[in-house]
Amino acid sequence: MFFITFEGIDQSGKSTQLDLLAHAFQSAGLSFLSVREPGDTALGEAIRKLLLGPEHGGMDRWAETLLYAAARAQLVADVIRPALAEGNLVLCDRYIDSSLVYQGIARGLGVERVLDLNMSATGGLMPDLTFVFHLDVESSRSRLAGRQAGRDRIESEPLEFHRLVEAGYRQLEEKYPERIVGIDGSLAASEIHGRVLGECRRRLGI
Ligand code: TYD
Repeated sequence: MFFITFEGIDQSGKSTQLDLLAHAFQSAGLSFLSVREPGDTALGEAIRKLLLGPEHGGMDRWAETLLYAAARAQLVADVIRPALAEGNLVLCDRYIDSSLVYQGIARGLGVERVLDLNMSATGGLMPDLTFVFHLDVESSRSRLAGRQAGRDRIESEPLEFHRLVEAGYRQLEEKYPERIVGIDGSLAASEIHGRVLGECRRRLGI
């Protein structure tokens, strides 16, 4: 049982890297489960719509934080803990660190207060390993501009918000040096994948 999370600003390439690692685990015959936040339970998907839809523009910071935590609590209880208990590896696209950075730092609620809330919501489940993909905000914006889909409520936040998010991930990397591995998201996807695989091999002994 090993819990790996993928973090970074929008367009940092984290979801692509999660998929590449999932393929590698599949080829190696490892049993794993991959999930994303917010969502992947019926309640979580309903909360995702509330959080990301443009219709709740004036959402209070704590209301937002509690909704992310509620979706997370359900996902941990229904999916992540049972999968880990059955001996699976679990890969998750965003987790607690997203709340620490987006709500704790960028929204200004404080890392410790958001951490406390999330520790209660998840029964203290922290990842064993977290990859953070760093990308400067300008590159993130130009990748976003090339995408077909419209922007969600968080993506529509001003540049300054996203700068705080990127800086926040660097702060977290210093706070959790054992758990968090930072990788330059501007490198070629294949090179990044090599680093991710190397780190998993080292930590999991596979
Ligand atoms: P999503 O479409 O999943 O974005 P991405 O592909 O970048 O992961 O939308 C999730 C958005 O919600 C994303 O902009 C980050 C934000 N978010 C928070 O603000 N706090 C959180 O705890 C989580 C999990 C996500």
